[in-house]
Amino acid sequence: MTEEKILARLQNCPWQIHVAAETDSTNSVLKRTSGAPHGTVLLTQRQTGGRGRLGRQFASPEGGVYLSVLLHPKAPPEALLHLTAMVAVAARRAIMEACGVEVQIKWTNDLVCDGKKLGGILTEMLTAEGRLQSVIVGIGINCNTLPREVQDMATSLRALTGTEVDRESLAAALIAHLYTMDQVLLTEKAAWLLEYETACITVGKRVQVLRGEERRLALALGIDENGGLRVRYDSGETAVVTTGEVSVRGMYGYV
Ligand code: BTN
Repeated sequence: MTEEKILARLQNCPWQIHVAAETDSTNSVLKRTSGAPHGTVLLTQRQTGGRGRLGRQFASPEGGVYLSVLLHPKAPPEALLHLTAMVAVAARRAIMEACGVEVQIKWTNDLVCDGKKLGGILTEMLTAEGRLQSVIVGIGINCNTLPREVQDMATSLRALTGTEVDRESLAAALIAHLYTMDQVLLTEKAAWLLEYETACITVGKRVQVLRGEERRLALALGIDENGGLRVRYDSGETAVVTTGEVSVRGMYGYV
C-alpha cells in the first residue's frame, strides 16, 4: 500500500495522506502529532499496539486496513456526540462501494457481517482547558487476513467475498466517505443517524447493559439524535445509554 496508489483512486479530496510500514497505533501517532493539519490521514500496514474501545486491544496484522484521520472540528465536544455513528455510516458506505459487502453496525462502533465482527472504530477527543483541540477517528478492517486471536467472533472481507481485497481501493473509499462526512457533520446528522439506525443490528434486540459490575437487561428501542441507544429496561424504565459509559452485549454470543 502506498500514498500514490491511494491518491490514484481518490478524487477531489485535499486531505494529506501518509502510509507507514508499521506503527504502534495510528490513533496514538496522530495524538502525538495533533498539531498537524485538519484532514491528516495516516494508514499503516500493521500495528504493534492497535487499540479498541474500553482499553481493549485491536489485533492488526499485515493484510488489514488501519486508518486514522485527525480533525480539528469547529464545534464543542457536546455537539459531536454523534460523530462515531457517522463514521460507522461512512465506513459502511465505503465497504459497500469498494467490496460490494453489506455491513451492519453493532452499537456503538463495531462493523459486523454475518453476525461476526469485520472491523471497529475508535474515536478519541483531545481537549485542553475544557476546549476541544482535535478529534482522532480510527478505523480498522479485517481485509485479507483474520487475526488468530479473534477467529471465533470475527470475519474478514476476503472470507466474505472469496477474493483478495484491493486495500488501496478500500482505503481511498474510506477517505472519500470520511471527507464527505466531515463536510456534513453538523448539517446532515439526522439523515445519517437514520441510516445508522436502519443498519444497526442492536436495535430491536434484547441486550445486557454493562456499567462496571452492574448488569441490566433491556430491549434496545432505537438510536437517539446523538447516536445514543434508547433502551427499555426490564423494570419498565426507559433510558438512553451513551458510549464510554456502558458496553452493550447481546443475550447470546457476540451480537
Ligand atoms: C474497537 O473494535 O473497539 C475499535 C477498533 C479500532 C481500530 C482502529 S485501527 C486504526 C486505529 N488505530 C488504533 O489503534 N485503533 C484504531
